[in-house]
Amino acid sequence: MTSPAPDGPRHVAIIMDGNGRWARERGLPRLRGHEAGAESISAALRACRDLGIRYLTLYAFSVENWVRPKAEVAGLMALLRRFLRAREEELHANRTRLRAIGRLDDLPAPARGELQRVMDSTAHFTDRHLVLALSYGGRAEIADAARRIAERVKAGALDPAAVDEAAVAANLYAPDIPDPDLMIRTSGEVRLSNFLLWQLSYAEFHFTPTLWPDFREADLAAAVAEYRRRHRRFGDIG
Ligand code: FPP
Repeated sequence: MTSPAPDGPRHVAIIMDGNGRWARERGLPRLRGHEAGAESISAALRACRDLGIRYLTLYAFSVENWVRPKAEVAGLMALLRRFLRAREEELHANRTRLRAIGRLDDLPAPARGELQRVMDSTAHFTDRHLVLALSYGGRAEIADAARRIAERVKAGALDPAAVDEAAVAANLYAPDIPDPDLMIRTSGEVRLSNFLLWQLSYAEFHFTPTLWPDFREADLAAAVAEYRRRHRRFGDIG
């Protein structure tokens, strides 16, 4: 395996934006843009392996995305299933564990089932982690954590005075995964769009005009090079 890069990033999170515009520029249906976007995921996984990045989190479907036209939502869910089937072997070959964060119960049963199957079949890998954010919202995640904490307080299992940052973090969807060091958003939009609101507190941000379907290994390498040039201080003096 590639050893983790000592100067990081250990965890990269990506908002994969611009599939629709990529398709429109070519006079293609939006779903063709999403299909091309699925190919970029493989490129990103290869780049992570080569750069020694152990965790890759991808914003694949937000809680807000359910309001898109029914056909697009159905197409994305079918694409998720095809993606999982097509990439399972590659995940195994690269010793990559698949995880998912979000309100996964919202997913249609076939997509949820395929997701669970591949998560189970890769659960023993520890070298690398691919985390798909599905029906994910940062505020929803914090609200879900607050609800779980309230339930424990109500049950007498937790003292309200013990509810601190660590307690909130421990009740997020994947508390064992380290916070992202670097967040990338493609397509020129400069927004967080409800992505990993808690976990991105100290992350470096990289925005690129490249549309997600055009994003390749060299683009990820450039973002990482920029990250490594920056001086990270965590609020301390430089
Ligand atoms: C944003 O582009 C992208 C999405 C909402 C979906 C991301 C999905 C993929 C990259 C395909 C792989 C899918 C799965 C489920 C693994 P947009 O549609 O908002 O683009 P636009 O802003 O140009 O319209």
